[in-house]
Amino acid sequence: MKIEFIGHSTFVIYLSSKILLFDPFIKNNPFVSKKISDIYADYILLSHGHDDHLGDTIKIAKKNKANVLAPFELGMYLKNKCKNITKLDLGGELEFDFGKIKMVKAVHSSSIIKKTIFNTNKIIYAGNACGYLINTEGKTIYYSGDTAVFKDMELIKNSTVSGIDIAIISIGGRYTMGPDDALRAIDMLSPKKIIPMHYNTFPAISIKTDQLFKEIKDRNIELLDMRPGQTIEVIDSM
Ligand code: NI
Ligand code: MN
Repeated sequence: MKIEFIGHSTFVIYLSSKILLFDPFIKNNPFVSKKISDIYADYILLSHGHDDHLGDTIKIAKKNKANVLAPFELGMYLKNKCKNITKLDLGGELEFDFGKIKMVKAVHSSSIIKKTIFNTNKIIYAGNACGYLINTEGKTIYYSGDTAVFKDMELIKNSTVSGIDIAIISIGGRYTMGPDDALRAIDMLSPKKIIPMHYNTFPAISIKTDQLFKEIKDRNIELLDMRPGQTIEVIDSM
C-alpha cells in the first residue's frame, strides 16, 4: 500500500488492485502536486460538499469512470453529473473486493455554493459531513475529513479490531480542529501514525505546528508530515 499526498485534504491510496482518491481539490488548490489529467482513481471518497473537498470530483470521476462514495444528499446532488455513485450515511459500512469502508461522524457543515447571475450566493444543502474508516490489506486508516474534535472519536477507535494504524486528520483550525484540539483527538484515536492535513493551504488556516508535532513525538506516535507530491510506502511490519 502506498499513500500519496496531493495537497490540502487530497490523498491517493494505492492498493494492490485499486486506487482510492480522497477529496480531490486540484484546480483552485495553491499547493498541489498534480494536474487533473494525471490523477487516476477507481474510487473517489468525498467527505462533504465544500469546494475544497468536492473540488474536481466530476471531471476526475468522468475521466476515470470512478465510483464516487458520498454522504446521501451529496450523492443525490451528483446524480447525472457522475455515472457511478455510491451513497452512504453516517455509521454505514460497505464491503468491497479490496476491503471495508465505513462512513463515520464528522462535526462540520456541508453545502455547495453557487454564484447566481445577480452575484449572490445560492447555497445547496449537501447533507452531513463525514469521515471514513477504511479497512484494507490488514491496515485500518481513519480519514477525518473536516471536523471539530468530538468525544465519539473514542467510539471510532473502539470500533476497530486492532486500533488505528494511520490517522489522517485536519489540524488547520478556523474551519476544523486546530493544533490543540487535534491533540485531544489524537489522545482519543491513539493511532500508530499520523498524517496531518488541511493546514497552511490558505492564510486562514496557517498555523504553527511546532508544539503539536512535539507532543505527537512525545507520545511515540510516528508523524508523517507530508509535502504535496510526496508518497510513502506503508510497510507490513508497522
Ligand atoms: Ni469544509
Ligand atoms: Mn475544508
